[in-house]
Amino acid sequence: MDIDVKNKKLSAWISDVAAMCQPDAVYICDGSPKEYAAMMQKLIDSGSATPLKKRPNSYLFRSDPSDVARVEDRTYISTSAKDEAGPTNNWIAPAELKDTMKKLYKGCMKGRTMYVIPFSMGPIGSPISKIGIEISDSPYVVVNMHIMTRVSSKVLDLLGTEGDFIPCLHSVGAPLEKGQQDVQWPCAPIESKFISHFPEENLIWSYGSGYGGNALLGKKCLALRIASAMARREGWMAEHMLVLRLTSPEGRQYHIAAAFPSACGKTNLAMMQPSLKGWKCECIGDDIAWMKIGPDGKLHAINPESGFFGVAPGTSYDTNPMAMDTLKENVIFTNCALTDGGDVWWEGMNDDLPSHLIDWKGRDWTPASKTDAAHANARFTAPASQCPVICKDWENPAGVPIDIFIFGGRRTTVVPLVYEAFSWEHGVFLGATAASETTAANIGAVGNLRRDPFAMKPFCGYNMGDYFSHWFAMGEKLGNAAPRIFYVNWFRKSSDGKFLWPGFSDNSRVLKWMCDRVDGRVGAEPSPIGLMPKPGDLDLSGLALAPDNLRELLSVNTAEWKAEIPDIEAHFATFGSRLPQKLREQLAGLAKRLG
Ligand code: GTP
Ligand code: SPV
Ligand code: MN
Repeated sequence: MDIDVKNKKLSAWISDVAAMCQPDAVYICDGSPKEYAAMMQKLIDSGSATPLKKRPNSYLFRSDPSDVARVEDRTYISTSAKDEAGPTNNWIAPAELKDTMKKLYKGCMKGRTMYVIPFSMGPIGSPISKIGIEISDSPYVVVNMHIMTRVSSKVLDLLGTEGDFIPCLHSVGAPLEKGQQDVQWPCAPIESKFISHFPEENLIWSYGSGYGGNALLGKKCLALRIASAMARREGWMAEHMLVLRLTSPEGRQYHIAAAFPSACGKTNLAMMQPSLKGWKCECIGDDIAWMKIGPDGKLHAINPESGFFGVAPGTSYDTNPMAMDTLKENVIFTNCALTDGGDVWWEGMNDDLPSHLIDWKGRDWTPASKTDAAHANARFTAPASQCPVICKDWENPAGVPIDIFIFGGRRTTVVPLVYEAFSWEHGVFLGATAASETTAANIGAVGNLRRDPFAMKPFCGYNMGDYFSHWFAMGEKLGNAAPRIFYVNWFRKSSDGKFLWPGFSDNSRVLKWMCDRVDGRVGAEPSPIGLMPKPGDLDLSGLALAPDNLRELLSVNTAEWKAEIPDIEAHFATFGSRLPQKLREQLAGLAKRLG
């Protein structure tokens, strides 16, 4: 195939991949609106995309029912030594994994076009940005990458003849025989799906899935798994964090970065509209933060993405109005339900149940149906620039200086609404022991409690024990300029199964307490697990919260917390000698305080 690409590494890689995957054609993407329109037209013509009458330039896709989320069981960190991947990752030796995957890749693009997608994570040309090239046989991936990353021929110009990039190879794993009719959502069966990372050579190979983080390789694969390994080598941080700017009524700006596991509230907090008068919240990013120590000694964060790949169910004008306003046009919806009027719908979108829908599997649905109309992990892909509260500095290559880190998760019981770490070391302990109930963002059981350190269990591209050490090392470098660390839980429930805390815009009350702590305006009450708000310090003005609820939200039950200790010990034991001594000391401290 005659492809005119100036970059030598890219040119050789394209030839090699084309020879292996045997596509019918090769197409180099330029990222233009014209290309997006042409690609979408193809997807409409083939029956994969349904244009939405109610939303300009917006489309609905339905995935194969087996291909609806990330596949952590099929995700690999392939390092030469198993110990480098650590106990939280699946591992296969690079030679063996490549051998297996090469067999799958052989001829896998027959009957399809191979798209070469040059993209930048972070603003094109910025020193903090990274260039990736995704090769994919999925036009759905191309249109999503257009929104989620900066796809442009400028990226190729920037590479020149010698420049380096991160190769990201992707195939849906569904070759077509001559004359064979394509399906609406091609993919491979679960046992031949592989989401593989080779962090020692900055390489990604993905096979068999077309969904989200399995297929849009700039996101979890590059910007978290590969980037976290680079960040450790180079002394910076790549985290599963939203970034927001909170401005007080006096005009003081606070920058907050929060790590919650998948489907645990990042997008919602990132766009939250404070219920507290005079406070303003602006979004910088909703999923991933890259952070470097700036000239002022503080940690500065950028959002490497350019769009939101957000959870649809639960998104409404009540819960997340700024997301709803982001979704008016130019959006790709996946696995949402379709209304008779040509709009999308999902559980929790509004109070009126439509009398008839087409569900995410393409079947008729009525309120009498026993199943959800939208899949629990149905998603929207929307440009970040369309968010009404996108911060004017969201693309500033210098990033924003982080004042506050928040960790958290989904805990029905035990964990209070908010507490503050005693110190950076204690904060790293809180991150390292974070636990959360599993969600539909991964294929597997939902609602199982598991340790998900720093919300990075599925996304850390190296041994998590070393990752903990990296956090301690960053703290030492940052010294007094280090962000203050807090832990939150929006999801505690009463014995009758109702959320105790209203959440969403009222989470601003918790953020305000954090800001007050940072500036020394309020004190705090020590508890065995951390520093708690003093009575009256949490601003609950205008909120009708039963005093019993508040008491329960802020309660620390010693017996329940003591019961966590053996589980934390077992969690820590999995890291063997890679577990930093400081974490053992923190655990001993907790046990002692609990008595
Ligand atoms: P990923 O995109 O998978 O990383 O998820 P995320 O962390 O961005 O989660 P998101 O903000 O999309 O929220 C996931 C689900 O939790 C949605 O259904 C939300 O409605 C719900 N949720 C978010 N914040 C809150 C909250 O404060 N309280 C309650 N009760 N639910 C919330
Ligand atoms: C997550 O699961 O954390 C997501 C969605 O943000 S995906 O892009 O599919 O990983
Ligand atoms: Mn996420």
